[in-house]
Amino acid sequence: MGVSAALSEHDPPVLVVTGGSSGIGRATALAASASGWHVVLVARGPAALHETAEDCRARGAGSVLVRPLDVGDDDAVAAMVASVLERYGRLDAVVSCAGVVAYGRTESVPVAVFDAVLRTNLTGSVNVARHVVPVLRRQGAGALLLVGSVVGHLAVPSMSPYVLSKWGVRALARQLSVENRDRPGVAIGYVAPGGVDTPIYRQAANYAGYAGRPPPPVSSPERVARQVLARLDRPHRRDQLGLTNEVLRLGFSFLPAVYDRLVGPAFPVGATDLTRPVAPGPGNVLAPREDHDRLHGGYRSAAGRVLANLRQQRSQR
Ligand SMILES: NC(=O)c1ccc[n+]([C@@H]2O[C@H](COP(=O)([O-])OP(=O)(O)OC[C@H]3O[C@@H](n4cnc5c(N)ncnc54)[C@H](OP(=O)(O)O)[C@@H]3O)[C@@H](O)[C@H]2O)c1
Repeated sequence: MGVSAALSEHDPPVLVVTGGSSGIGRATALAASASGWHVVLVARGPAALHETAEDCRARGAGSVLVRPLDVGDDDAVAAMVASVLERYGRLDAVVSCAGVVAYGRTESVPVAVFDAVLRTNLTGSVNVARHVVPVLRRQGAGALLLVGSVVGHLAVPSMSPYVLSKWGVRALARQLSVENRDRPGVAIGYVAPGGVDTPIYRQAANYAGYAGRPPPPVSSPERVARQVLARLDRPHRRDQLGLTNEVLRLGFSFLPAVYDRLVGPAFPVGATDLTRPVAPGPGNVLAPREDHDRLHGGYRSAAGRVLANLRQQRSQR
């Protein structure tokens, strides 16, 4: 069902991607463009959106619309959905991918930054669902896929607002699935990536003292984009993108005492760069930093970074 139902009637489909100017969202838009889809790109910063739009056209997109907006602004999301319907007369698929990260303990992240992470990641996903689901229900076909995270199934040190927001995104996906069971043509999907090589770690607000980085194994945004697009048609495929996610999730749920003991020492070694202290700041959480928006983050050599972190810890003892 989902997009393939739309595909048989309308070719090519219309896809909206929030967070479409960087990382996973950008890779998803590029992959859909290569199949000739109509692509609507949403993010706050217009320059990175227009740069992505050019790449999408070069890849063969049926057409590209650019909609600069903050997904935390419900009226702006409503206007975006209305403008897509006005232009195309339908909406086949939406990937809700816009996201920001803040590093820091619950009591260390400033109120404005904490609230803004929840507003983009969770309230933004709710806003998208509020305006997209009625369209899909009216059509009787189409897909909404929410991008969560493995940390939406875990607790980790120093990522408090991000963890809470992603638990919320997972709850929203489940809630929407229950609410839309009466429309078998409407596909509600959810995926939880692990570490992905995107700029989000460099863009993050940071009140933890050291730079963040994707934990190993590090996937490419292109690979995640393929997994995302595959789930638009088959939303019930496994939501965890990778075996490591499953191991962490099972440990967290079934061996909580062991998990809680290990995650404290493991997190700084696997998911930060202890050789790069950072000054506290809001990163792109309160306003976009378009100069950092791109497809890849440049974080491929995870094993080397883990070794460097271990050496750094030893030298500090
Ligand atoms: N990278 C990973 O390892 C990883 C792992 C698990 C889950 N994820 C999730 O995957 C999604 C994409 O992350 P990514 O790694 O691709 O990040 P990214 O490269 O930093 O891209 C984030 C995108 O979201 C947009 N955005 C941020 N705040 C927004 C807002 N309020 N309104 C509209 N757009 C906004 C950004 O553009 P502007 O700043 O211009 O708005 C950008 O286009 C996120 O939900 C993230 O939590 C990522």
